[in-house]
Amino acid sequence: MRANVTATGQGKLIVFGEHAVVYGRPAVACSLPTGARATLQRAATPRWVIEHPGGLIDANADADILKAGNLLLEPFGLCADELDIRIEMSIPLGAGLGSSAAMAVAVARGAARLLDLNEADTEQRVSRAVIASESVFHGKASGIDQQAAMGSGFFTFRKTDSGPVVDPLKVDAHRWVVARVAPSKSTAAMVQSVADRRERLPEVTESLFDDFAHTSEMGARALTAGAWDVVGELMNVNQGLLEAIGVSTPELEAACTAANQSGALGAKITGAGGGGCILALAQDDDDRLVDALGEYGDVFEFTLAGRNSTT
Ligand code: MEV
Repeated sequence: MRANVTATGQGKLIVFGEHAVVYGRPAVACSLPTGARATLQRAATPRWVIEHPGGLIDANADADILKAGNLLLEPFGLCADELDIRIEMSIPLGAGLGSSAAMAVAVARGAARLLDLNEADTEQRVSRAVIASESVFHGKASGIDQQAAMGSGFFTFRKTDSGPVVDPLKVDAHRWVVARVAPSKSTAAMVQSVADRRERLPEVTESLFDDFAHTSEMGARALTAGAWDVVGELMNVNQGLLEAIGVSTPELEAACTAANQSGALGAKITGAGGGGCILALAQDDDDRLVDALGEYGDVFEFTLAGRNSTT
């Protein structure tokens, strides 16, 4: 067993199809080049700290994180109270950017390295462990965040009974802008609110999910063709669908409108909604967008292409 290891997991942007992806419709996402870095070592005095853009969390004092953490470590025969774990986050927590999956992948890969597992054993066990821990934060998770956290560049994702179907997409580099508009709601609560609406309005909700699917399929084609105007227009359509299933808010709507009025080709919620972040497709030479979104909250700029690095 190694004494001290580090490993990473990546954040994500969902470009098309969040929520409908939980019900087997295709979605399009991209791994961020940044996310979580975990350092693990055996320790007589256990410690689990998360350093993030908003401060420091003692995970041992947070019941949900500790529960998720132990579910994560269990497949490796490890337990939080025998480890010193330090996680450094370069994306905000709970903002719809896949922080929990990035953390989980970083810690699970770290656990595998601590045990010196070979590559083949590692990815399967990491995957199993992350699914278990993500259920604490997402409830009925589709697995798309986990896929992105393992480093997949742009990809389409579909949950099926026999496991996820993932198709990498070749996408040219482009500028994307994210603004954290409002405090986040719990992903599990937002997923549950959509499940409740589906229960109340089954035909309408299923038919909206089909529209999400068409938007994702056409969006994937537009992304690979570099048809950025079409990508932007479809992002606006996707935002309309997210509003229709009840996960948008007046603040998120206002930020999307401001983005579109300030040069964005399209804008939408990214992630579970109810708060959190919007994603805008920028035009390469236009700074008005960043200035306009700065009025709504912290702004992050990314140049994303077909595949981002993984470790
Ligand atoms: C959260 O990033 C995306 C959701 O579709 C939930 C999931 O797919 O697990 C809202």
